[in-house]
Amino acid sequence: MNAPVLMQVVGARPQFIKLAPLSREIARRRLAGRPYRECVVHTGQHYDDAMSAVFFEQLSLPRPTHDLGVGSGPHGAQTAAMLAGLESVIEAERPAAVIVYGDTNSTLAAAFAAAKRHVPVVHVEAGLRSGNRRMPEEINRIAVDHIADLLLAPTASALDNLVREGRAAAARWTGDVMYDAVSFTRRLLSGVARPAGVPEGDYLLATVHRAENTDDPHRLAAIVEALATLAETALPVVWPLHPRTRAALERLGRPLDEPGLMLFEPVGYLELLALLDGARLVLTDSGGVQKEAFFFDTPCLTLRDETEWPETVAAGANRLVGADAARIVELARHTLGLPPVRYDHGAFGDGEAAARCLDEIEALLNL
Ligand code: UD1
Ligand code: UDP
Repeated sequence: MNAPVLMQVVGARPQFIKLAPLSREIARRRLAGRPYRECVVHTGQHYDDAMSAVFFEQLSLPRPTHDLGVGSGPHGAQTAAMLAGLESVIEAERPAAVIVYGDTNSTLAAAFAAAKRHVPVVHVEAGLRSGNRRMPEEINRIAVDHIADLLLAPTASALDNLVREGRAAAARWTGDVMYDAVSFTRRLLSGVARPAGVPEGDYLLATVHRAENTDDPHRLAAIVEALATLAETALPVVWPLHPRTRAALERLGRPLDEPGLMLFEPVGYLELLALLDGARLVLTDSGGVQKEAFFFDTPCLTLRDETEWPETVAAGANRLVGADAARIVELARHTLGLPPVRYDHGAFGDGEAAARCLDEIEALLNL
């Protein structure tokens, strides 16, 4: 009999990171004699080397068995192309389960394709909610959490959301695989070089890529104003640009020539974590970066009006500042004046979330 196939579908930068701990755990259990095989499918949603290849290299991820090369496009066209490609791959591989991560279009397409072929769907990072249905990710999450057979919740609040939506029977708390990833990677950071010109310690780190901030020129202009003001009057701002944001800034047309405003191409995971560790403060609209700031005891201001990670706010590590320039600058100055804090990371698990995920998957499939 052929070994049951665990198919892992990824496509976007944060998913490569989330894949690493589970992939490592599968490899460990296979070595110990477990009778299954892993098959990684890359949808091609992210494709630049700095958005994709660098993560496979730095995290020693398995080479994808299938790369659909779907690329960028409007939501409908992109998701449809993935759906068609994934249907063929699922037909060819006949997996025992399809594992999806988070809330991207790749996740939505994989969950739909698998469910329609009657293949069990496992959603890692289930149950997150922002309460904002204008976010494309919120629609993806809600849909996938109501299709999937096993819902693996990273936090207690995510589990509560699933219970509230009537999904308790399929939901389990596992802890956060991104905390596993940081716990594993932390020890590799000591020799990682900072991008050229970044001073040691005294800088702010910024990342911006959300549709609400890049597609709305008023919000983007206010964020740029705030970062430029901080760069001129407080500390240099190190800002690796997501390609979506680089394009939006070009459309905005504002010169970005303040001396302390340091723009870079996207950096690798090791470089990003090393930058986060060294920064005095992080300003971000990223889900992953909010948590990583927390894990490195670096205070965070979130350039949004809501968050899927309320535990970081409750711990006093993260504040929601929206996209109002004066408020961002004022709260950044205030936060820089506070003494350093060590946060309690317990809400995100103990670095063993991937093992719990795989225990639940084995139980679901009677492996
Ligand atoms: C996607 C996810 C978002 C996640 C983010 C992580 C959805 C709906 N959104 O948003 O949840 O937080 O990934 O980074 O799935 N581009 C390139 N090169 C690349 C990839 C993208 O130039 O390798 C540019 C293209 O112009 C593209 C744009 O970035 O149109 C947006 O990419 P896309 O994957 O559609 O959405 P993200 O904003 O990256
Ligand atoms: N990241 C990175 N290089 C960068 C920016 C982000 O390696 O230049 C990593 C970061 O450590 C985090 C992940 O990418 O783990 C988050 O991705 P992103 O912010 O694109 O998406 P989100 O988490 O908001 O879905």
